[in-house]
Amino acid sequence: MPLLRAIKCNIISPRIPFHLYNRNYCHSGAGEPFVPFDVLVNQRRNEARRSLLVEVAGLPSSTDLHQVCSQYGAVRKMFHYTTRHSNVNKEMILVEFDEAESLEKALQATRSPPTERIIPVHSPFVWLSASRTASSNRKKTNISSTTDIIQETVPSNEELQLQLSQSRDLSEQIQKSYECQKLTELGSRLRFFTCRQVEVALSGLFPQACVLPFGSSVNSFGRINCDLDMILELFDVTNQDTTQRLVFQAKKSRSAANPRITMQRHMEVISDILDNFVPGCSQVRKILAARVPIIKYRQDLTDMECDLSMANRSGFYMSEMLYLYGSMDKRVRPLVFAIRKWAKDRHVTSPYAGRWVTNFSLTLLVLFYLMRTSPPVIPPLQMLIKLAGDDDVRTAESINCTFLRDLKILTASDNKQSLEDLLRGFYEFYDKFDFKERGLSVVRGDDFVKPEHNALYIQNPLERELNVSRNVTLEELERLRSEITHARYRLEEDTEHIEEQQGQQPWGLLSLWGASHKPQAHRGLNASIDWQEVFHIQEQETPPTPDKQLNVSPVHA
Ligand code: CTP
Ligand code: MG
Repeated sequence: MPLLRAIKCNIISPRIPFHLYNRNYCHSGAGEPFVPFDVLVNQRRNEARRSLLVEVAGLPSSTDLHQVCSQYGAVRKMFHYTTRHSNVNKEMILVEFDEAESLEKALQATRSPPTERIIPVHSPFVWLSASRTASSNRKKTNISSTTDIIQETVPSNEELQLQLSQSRDLSEQIQKSYECQKLTELGSRLRFFTCRQVEVALSGLFPQACVLPFGSSVNSFGRINCDLDMILELFDVTNQDTTQRLVFQAKKSRSAANPRITMQRHMEVISDILDNFVPGCSQVRKILAARVPIIKYRQDLTDMECDLSMANRSGFYMSEMLYLYGSMDKRVRPLVFAIRKWAKDRHVTSPYAGRWVTNFSLTLLVLFYLMRTSPPVIPPLQMLIKLAGDDDVRTAESINCTFLRDLKILTASDNKQSLEDLLRGFYEFYDKFDFKERGLSVVRGDDFVKPEHNALYIQNPLERELNVSRNVTLEELERLRSEITHARYRLEEDTEHIEEQQGQQPWGLLSLWGASHKPQAHRGLNASIDWQEVFHIQEQETPPTPDKQLNVSPVHA
């Protein structure tokens, strides 16, 4: 149970303070109670349906806001955060009502501002005005004005480094680093809420529109501030009641014979709606020629980068598969986090699509390794496929996505290695792996002779004839290998000098995360990247837009 700590009057923090962190964590077994993915997603979507995001003048307005909201129904929770946009801080409060009807009442009562420049879009994003009339009306209603405002305290980089340097051993560092960097309660709520905003905005035209998050926002490997990947479905693909006699009329599409062109046209319209009408959406860009066409935008009010795609439910099931692997053993998530962070800091991965390994491929590399330890920490996917029951059958875009969803029937692994052993083992395993000749399959939990001459071959777990790392060039693979070798030796050096190093110089994760030992010219502005080539070789990634290329430099400088 997270510890709730009062920071100021009426403010509580759900993060576990470092000094209270339980050092006696267990290294194997299920860890946190298992929540099925469907249950988790439905619970979060329900919260989002009952939530309102309000821009306020400052934290003191929360009492006023609580009074206003309580006119429409009971308020369950309020979260405060600050977001920075165009050099101005915005104070935001996410309000969760007990009932969805209360939110509807609040939205119906929302008034238009006295300016024609602001369009009253149907959206759960509003702001609280300082109207006197409203406040005197509220006084008459005599509603309680107290509530707890939840504020999440996320440790700064310096705090994290201090805590890691004071850890007892590498295992504790890995665990602490995971606890501090994983997506928070508010982060998760805001991601589902951002999906809900698109649903609501489109609901007039598409009453069944459903927007689901996928990728690191829900696969349990997401960091604070991770991007939001979303799928938009215009009708409910999971619930088609064929007994109903009344059926929607369709407008004949000029491109009906080509579903991809139809989808691209729909996405053009949707991106225009986001760009012109939906509050907080900025920098809207269409990347419709990609294998999976996407609309990219920034949601300024929830402070996140968003990628919206359509007809990509297999991506959602892929996230469910990763979530299940993360739930199987409590060591999986901390280990994946440590390796993803290492790869980010050593510039092995990048926030931009390119010729390098993606976080998704890297996660599959970690899972594959955990299937190859002795005894294995996690089973191969084919075992989950064999154990699947009737309730687990899923198909998306003609891809079979059936695998066991309820992990309760699995027993815990016999592997008792510590996180430290597993991290070292990861680098040793891939330092020796024959990437030149062999491909990896998390379906079989085994390697195989590569069917194609791609530098790195990681079988797509759902579309098994595809390689998820087809984009990775030989040069990038060599860099990955050299970083792996480097990490392996750093950790070995640490073991030899651990006592001298603790408290004196960076050790463990801190020595792994240091700046890359090779200059990364190709990530900078002068990069000689053939984006057209990248676009064609990528299996599922999308090419960067010109302004995105301009953004590459500062991140890697
Ligand atoms: N995906 C997929 N097939 C691929 C690539 C991606 O199904 N070939 C799905 C996976 O579910 C993946 C999601 O798309 O998790 C999002 O991909 P990406 O954004 O690259 O990975 P994330 O896990 O979201 O990592 P990041 O934090 O870097 O965004
Ligand atoms: Mg992502």
